[in-house]
Amino acid sequence: MDEGRFSVSAQFRVAPLFCRPWTLNGISPRLIESHYEHNYGAALTRLNAVTRELEGIDFGTATPQAIGRLKREQIDLLNSTLLHELYFASLGGDGRTLPEVIANAITRDFRSVSHWRQEFIALAEALAGDAGWILLTYVPRDGRLINQSASDHTQSIAGGIPILALDMYEHAYHIEYGPNTTAYIAAFMRNIDWASVEARYNDAVKVAPPRPLQQSEFKDVPSITAEEVQGMLAAGQPVQIIDTRPRHYSTRAQDIVDGAVWRDPERLDEWIGTLSKEAPVVTFCVYGFHIGCQSAAALKAAGFDARYMAGGHYAWKAIKGPVKLFE
Ligand SMILES: [Fe+2]
Repeated sequence: MDEGRFSVSAQFRVAPLFCRPWTLNGISPRLIESHYEHNYGAALTRLNAVTRELEGIDFGTATPQAIGRLKREQIDLLNSTLLHELYFASLGGDGRTLPEVIANAITRDFRSVSHWRQEFIALAEALAGDAGWILLTYVPRDGRLINQSASDHTQSIAGGIPILALDMYEHAYHIEYGPNTTAYIAAFMRNIDWASVEARYNDAVKVAPPRPLQQSEFKDVPSITAEEVQGMLAAGQPVQIIDTRPRHYSTRAQDIVDGAVWRDPERLDEWIGTLSKEAPVVTFCVYGFHIGCQSAAALKAAGFDARYMAGGHYAWKAIKGPVKLFE
């Protein structure tokens, strides 16, 4: 029975070495063995020790400093463990041949594979002399890949799924390359196992993005993002932007979306006749929950190409959309 990585005895378990050290080009078995045994192994052993210590702690009486220190150490060690496993799993290929799916994904997000390679290597060179990781990470929120450097074990992207890891800690190269990080980075690049990177990418894209805001009562009302409205204005597209923040709110509002007019949502019948059916209408309220949606629904029912701006006035402010004094 699979009990998961964290077993009932509260132990994080060792993962076997994913790469076959004797097949690597310019990275010796001696280096991999030392790295796996002494650095990965030490992180895992210490992780279990700290986890046991945390299990034995009385959170009612322990000092906040002790709890904070142990928790930080635990996450540091857990990330070190996970990233080392990914590092070893990143090695074992010829570094050159990118299968189609991962090649297309990298081209989509970095313009080209060679541009990605240039950026990844530049990040690694920039970290040389310091310690850390260079990661290629998939971000489910945006459905895209991003390169990152992490100057310690805890700078992971929240919700991101790293699919390729380069260890830039000195212990990863020093016994073989000394201070020559350029040669070590080149050796890593020519040993990347792209087939396994692609397999991890295929797994990562199955992870759903964070759940969007659910407004089931307005699910049939079309919406538009603040960025899209900004894009329409920038492109000079005709659009009628109606601020329908409630009157009681608008009396204390200080600013209004530049390009919008305020209309009292309670008196929609009075101003609906001033709108044109030739251009789309965008309505919005303070946060985008009710009034803006209701106004858009009423306009849509009356035959207008109407939608509400998701997130309302504050989403516009959050993207630094231009506003003017509300008088
Ligand atoms: Fe390492």
